Amino acid sequence: MEPNPLNPIYLRAAGVSLLIDLSSGEPSVLHWGADLGGILPDLSLAGVMSGPVPHSALDIPVVLGLLPQASSGWRGRPGLRGHRLAAGNGGRDGVDGDALGIGVDRDGTRRGFSARLRLTGCRATERSAVITTADAQLGLTVVTEVTLHDGGLLELRHHLTNDGGTDYALEELAAVLPVGPEATEILDLTGRWCRERHPQRHSVQQGTWLRSARHGRTGHDSSLLLAAGSLGFGNRQGKVWATHFAWSGDHEAYLESLADGRSVLGASELVGSGEIVLAPGESYLTPALFAAYSSHGLDGISDAFYAWFRGRSKHPSTPRPVVLNTWEAVYFNHDLTVLTSLADAAADLGVERFVLDDGWFRHRRDDHAGLGDWYVDPNVWPEGLHPLIAAVTDRGMEFGLWVEPEMINSDSDAARAHPDWIAGPGSGLPLQWRHQQVLDLVNPQAWQYIYDRLDALLSEYRIFYLKWDQNRDLSEMGHAGGPSVHEQTLAAYRLLDALRAAHPGVEIESCSSGGARADLGILQRTDRIWASDCNDALERQTIQRWTSMIVPPELVGAHVGPPTSHTTGRTHTLSFRAITALFGHFGLEWDIRSLTGPEHDELRGVIELYKEHRTLLHTGRMVRADLPDPALLLHGVVAGDGSEALFALVATSTSFSEQPGRVAIPGLAPELSYRVEVIYPRPLDPDREDPGVTGRDAASTYLQTSAPAWLATGVVASGQFLSESGLPMPILNPEHAILLHISAA
Ligand code: DGJ
Repeated sequence: MEPNPLNPIYLRAAGVSLLIDLSSGEPSVLHWGADLGGILPDLSLAGVMSGPVPHSALDIPVVLGLLPQASSGWRGRPGLRGHRLAAGNGGRDGVDGDALGIGVDRDGTRRGFSARLRLTGCRATERSAVITTADAQLGLTVVTEVTLHDGGLLELRHHLTNDGGTDYALEELAAVLPVGPEATEILDLTGRWCRERHPQRHSVQQGTWLRSARHGRTGHDSSLLLAAGSLGFGNRQGKVWATHFAWSGDHEAYLESLADGRSVLGASELVGSGEIVLAPGESYLTPALFAAYSSHGLDGISDAFYAWFRGRSKHPSTPRPVVLNTWEAVYFNHDLTVLTSLADAAADLGVERFVLDDGWFRHRRDDHAGLGDWYVDPNVWPEGLHPLIAAVTDRGMEFGLWVEPEMINSDSDAARAHPDWIAGPGSGLPLQWRHQQVLDLVNPQAWQYIYDRLDALLSEYRIFYLKWDQNRDLSEMGHAGGPSVHEQTLAAYRLLDALRAAHPGVEIESCSSGGARADLGILQRTDRIWASDCNDALERQTIQRWTSMIVPPELVGAHVGPPTSHTTGRTHTLSFRAITALFGHFGLEWDIRSLTGPEHDELRGVIELYKEHRTLLHTGRMVRADLPDPALLLHGVVAGDGSEALFALVATSTSFSEQPGRVAIPGLAPELSYRVEVIYPRPLDPDREDPGVTGRDAASTYLQTSAPAWLATGVVASGQFLSESGLPMPILNPEHAILLHISAA
């Protein structure tokens, strides 16, 4: 359809709007933020909204294109970088391009570096637009797809096609959106192994805040979200613009603030040198940039992402089963008797899914060998996995299996038979990481081998779940002498897609040395992420809080580990560990054969608690209070209709004050009356001989001579009262938590 330049594209949903003007001859974003209402200023919007022309500047007001271009006067980071290769310099017909004169190729195509992409077509609905821009002389077309989803989440991607007669070398194609002038603070996340997704925050200055991820995978330090917001924005107040780039390979995300007063959020795939060269007629599709705006803090960002996740047809719809993962219970010590008794203990506690972790395949007695040899080790499992799977399924649990398909050990039959399947720079091998290398999935034989092995395992055994691990950065990642992170990432996606299509009943977890592959690219083909290898509840409070900014808790694996954490050496009560894990996809990673009577009973009670509340936990809205005391956290999940909620009050360290005072509980329906009760661990009641199975940790959790009166009996109060006045809270010892159940009275 011919675009009508007088009709701006105006998408609106859930209090958010996006306004794109077409009148300048290229799509330019006039507004992304709060809904601007049903009536826009009349006629020339671009005229109404364009600013003055300053001294020493271009002679016209500069538009901010949907794909910012120097040819339109944009002096910031361009949306498209690349250049046309002359025939003979990578072109198809072997003609020496230099002989053809500067800038013009034999077929008349400008050998250009600066695109002049101008509007050639546009189709728009109330919620989406497909906008085509082209530079006929340079021989490039870009189709931009923008969709504003129901919950207000924006999805943006570009599709570049080389229409010219020679190759086009692409260096960058970025998705960019402007943020409002109030955005003066940047928030993003960083981390490392066992400390993923910790926030960092600073004020916006002129210049670029750039996060580069060169791990070949998403990365432990990757910023799941890059946000900019108004001064002091918090969990429930302030304007926030936030983006997420849905890609599991190298990428960059940035906020750029220009001297002209405008700031943009952008992201692009980080393309290796010469990695993407489009032959005539070939295309490149960017990963999607997801973007959310909230006028009431970060919780509004979560609302938009959660609505998008939960609206997908493939979003897990069955109750998330209680998992037992064998890793921290037995590591590589695979023994049928031991694992059968673990299955016994698990079934007795109410576990529903038993996952056999690393160590079951040929040569895999430790982490030095075996990756690539995806055959059950007959020395350890003479009858295959059948006896263990029978033991698990006979006890009413699903069986899950760990795999790491994208990797290969030099010490493996696969590598010995196919040394060329190890990905690398062309000569020599990359440095080893956990004694392993990367399998070159761009090689069709290697890809097919891995597909066939996994397909065979899934066909032979009743496997309901794969824990799909990926344990190293892809350094010096290459195929046939050229960089290949891009193709490798797509090949891994294809592998997951093909296996899911062939085995639609199998759920897949994305694990990557803990949480190094947590992004919406991988999550569109997996059913949950493993947030971190750290099961220490204190560390997990931060890791899960920030992971759940974007990813809803039903997709975030959270396990109760042993009392003393294997990765930090800290010891925590069962209640603190359990209350932490409840706000995710709950499981255990602990040798539960060793549990004592009361500990066993308490854990069984916790599992019942999870089962009772998992529908609420996995469908409700995430609410995080803005508390003045940095030693306290309060977060909860409130049912969509406001009828019920579960909140955790967490003491992460000692407080500056003697007692917490009244703590406001936000996010409830103001007009409803609620009954509020502490359900775990129950405060010790001197009149009760039996403190209840969930009361074991009370003595160490609470630190007071007398508790607030309502704790013993519960209290009824309105949502308005709870969010404005709050309730006096008990004094908690550091690294302890209590769970509050709130239900409409
Ligand atoms: C790394 C994962 O993050 C762990 O959970 C575990 O599966 C090990 N790999 C097994 O090697």
